[in-house]
Amino acid sequence: KKVALLAGGYTGESVVSLNSAKQIEASLDTERYEVYKIIVTPEEWYFTDTQNEKVPVNRADFSLDVQGERIKFDVVFIIIHGSPGEDGKLQSYFDLLNIPYTTCDATTSALTMNKAYTKAVVNGIDKLHIANSVQLFENDAEQLEKIKMKLQLPLFVKPNNGGSSIGMSKVNAWEELASALDKAFAEDTQILVEEFIEGREFTVGIYKAAGEVHVLPITEIKSSKEFFDYEAKYTKGVTEEITPAQIDDGLAAKVGKIAQEIFVKLNCRGVVRVDFIVQKNTENFYFIEINTVPGQSENSLIPQQVRATGQSMKSFYSLLIEEALA
Ligand code: DAL
Ligand code: MG
Repeated sequence: KKVALLAGGYTGESVVSLNSAKQIEASLDTERYEVYKIIVTPEEWYFTDTQNEKVPVNRADFSLDVQGERIKFDVVFIIIHGSPGEDGKLQSYFDLLNIPYTTCDATTSALTMNKAYTKAVVNGIDKLHIANSVQLFENDAEQLEKIKMKLQLPLFVKPNNGGSSIGMSKVNAWEELASALDKAFAEDTQILVEEFIEGREFTVGIYKAAGEVHVLPITEIKSSKEFFDYEAKYTKGVTEEITPAQIDDGLAAKVGKIAQEIFVKLNCRGVVRVDFIVQKNTENFYFIEINTVPGQSENSLIPQQVRATGQSMKSFYSLLIEEALA
């Protein structure tokens, strides 16, 4: 089977995507799959051939002309974080071309890229808590008043459609709010302002293979920074990530069940990662967000969780590809 591994993207997360793609490319079963890594940038989509020449993608049918041969793909492994690989745009394009892909469908991808809309949909799942928040749009003159009336400090301010904590701030005092809003609006036209929940941070991968939903071992994230920001996410040693998390079996089972319900309710496919906080002195599980194209670099959370099951990345990725083809 011919597999296009699609990396890069149009956002600040493209660097993360290239690292994810490197790890995936090294792990894919090359006896089973003929893999072509294709880089997507705002300027060009291309494959690099054995002569080190860039071969542009024929966008009308997503094919390549490599050394006189027209290559068409059986399946696309999308590993672009953010736009256009995690927000439904490429998913819609491949739907139109009738080419299967490894991620959630276009609707789920577009919905889950928007943190506020996702919270509205998962709200109501039994035992799932949602932090109070306000969604803001650009030119919303009442914004500071609206936030002060509705929310209590400390707060998180985030671009509503972002990833990897880019443009995000923690606000501990009201004086810090205006600059946090400016920083987030520099990245996005919509912002989510959320109450901070004190507690332990966890994340859990969920995937579908052979038609069944599986929950990976949970990871606890202990950041030595004020929160799990871009530096804490991608600099070795800044964050301690413990897989499987040291939590009691009852809580782990509860988390697994809720994560699975979120996956089903959002009609997910492929592998996704749900981030959450268990509030201090309680077992209240607060939903933060879902990532439908989670990081897959050497040190990323999903590979840690897969390895903790004893499964190889090679067999895991084969499961995802076969599920997309099924
Ligand atoms: N948005 C990053 C890539 C993640 O969720 O892992
Ligand atoms: Mg994210």
